[in-house]
Amino acid sequence: MTVTYRSGLLHLDNLPIDALADQFGTPLYAYSKPTLIESARTLDAALTGHTPHLICYAVKANPNLAIIQTFAQLGFGADVTSGGELFRAIQAGVPLDRIVYSGVGKTSGEINQAIEAQIKAFHVESEAELHLIASIAHFFAGSKAPIALRVNVDVDPHTHPNISTGKQETKFGIAWESVPALIQQIKQTPSLRLIGLSVHIGSQITELQPYREAADRIVGMARILMGEGLPLEYIDFGGGLGVRYSDESPPTFAEWGRTLRDALGDLPLTLVVEPGRSLVASAGVLITRVLYVKQTPTKTFVIVDAGMNDLIRPMLYGAHHPIWPVTQRENAPKMAVDIVGPVCETTDIFASQIQMPLPESGDLLAILHAGAYGSSMASNYNSRLRAAEIMIDQAGTAHIIRQRETLDDLIRGEHFLP
Ligand code: LLP
Repeated sequence: MTVTYRSGLLHLDNLPIDALADQFGTPLYAYSKPTLIESARTLDAALTGHTPHLICYAVKANPNLAIIQTFAQLGFGADVTSGGELFRAIQAGVPLDRIVYSGVGKTSGEINQAIEAQIKAFHVESEAELHLIASIAHFFAGSKAPIALRVNVDVDPHTHPNISTGKQETKFGIAWESVPALIQQIKQTPSLRLIGLSVHIGSQITELQPYREAADRIVGMARILMGEGLPLEYIDFGGGLGVRYSDESPPTFAEWGRTLRDALGDLPLTLVVEPGRSLVASAGVLITRVLYVKQTPTKTFVIVDAGMNDLIRPMLYGAHHPIWPVTQRENAPKMAVDIVGPVCETTDIFASQIQMPLPESGDLLAILHAGAYGSSMASNYNSRLRAAEIMIDQAGTAHIIRQRETLDDLIRGEHFLP
């Protein structure tokens, strides 16, 4: 998303933010379709090699239908982790044979839903799940459920512990040592068809080396299995590629793609990845309006109309999102402020002690790189209405892609006792 000042006013993809805020209200998520498309094309080119590849967009990063659809129209599949995400992917037009289903807690209802939909594969994360999928597939007479084993390769991704999934002590994937026994069971189960292996070691990964390590391990395992005559079709190397929020320098798509292609070598398998953040984070901005400026004996608080229910990353992971004033106040002296939301929690702080020209009530602020795990993790906490979302298309027109919630939405489904 191009975020630039023109005559002192911040613009998103050439549109002045103040006009967007007036038209659609705040808080407001704004996404750039040209940026989504550019990221998608760059990644696609990076994975193009002598084996086929498939990019399954990790829907959890941003599940808005218009975003999933944008990727589906470029030939992407989807990585889903719930029946809800599967429903969204199907609604957005993702071809069923490009949908993979990860997650440690698939319910029998969700497994039924996915078998009926005939998705590409389940990424199985435990022996118990394997048995449940087998019995449900058996129930659908003659059906063979396509599965891949998500293997825990015990690799440290060197990222925030809350978003680290590759180490043995996490709940994710099947322990390396348990794989051979599971393979024996799969061979003896007519309702299962093993077509791949998958691995996902964490999120916001900023180094190549953990990827290389994880990829070498999983490719080594695939070679052994294929040597034993198992007809594998693909390896899914997961997602997790980091983005630059402030001073990180994550690998580029080209570097990531080269690393995975090198690891796969001449193995005749489809190279699958399931990135979320790296495709959408920088394509989105959260626009918020200053409600009050409050001076206390120790601090200056800028209280805005977005809260941790809209974007919880700073509060949950100590994540840094740059915050830019929409109107530049060149001559105003900079001072240290805390940008905080209205939620009744002490941790409802977007940024602490950042230097900026003191905003005034009514001013707008832009919280950058908010396209991933922003709206997707939003809640109604404090009975706040979830924000509207817009997408700016290639022609530079802004479209509403999610209505702002109403008070009626808030209580829909609730009942008094008779
Ligand atoms: N595949 C699987 C199995 C995953 O669990 C995830 C993310 C992805 C793919 C996509 O990872 P990405 O490319 O987006 O890093 N809420 C956290 C991030 C949680 C990631 C969970 N799994 C945050 O805001 O940083």
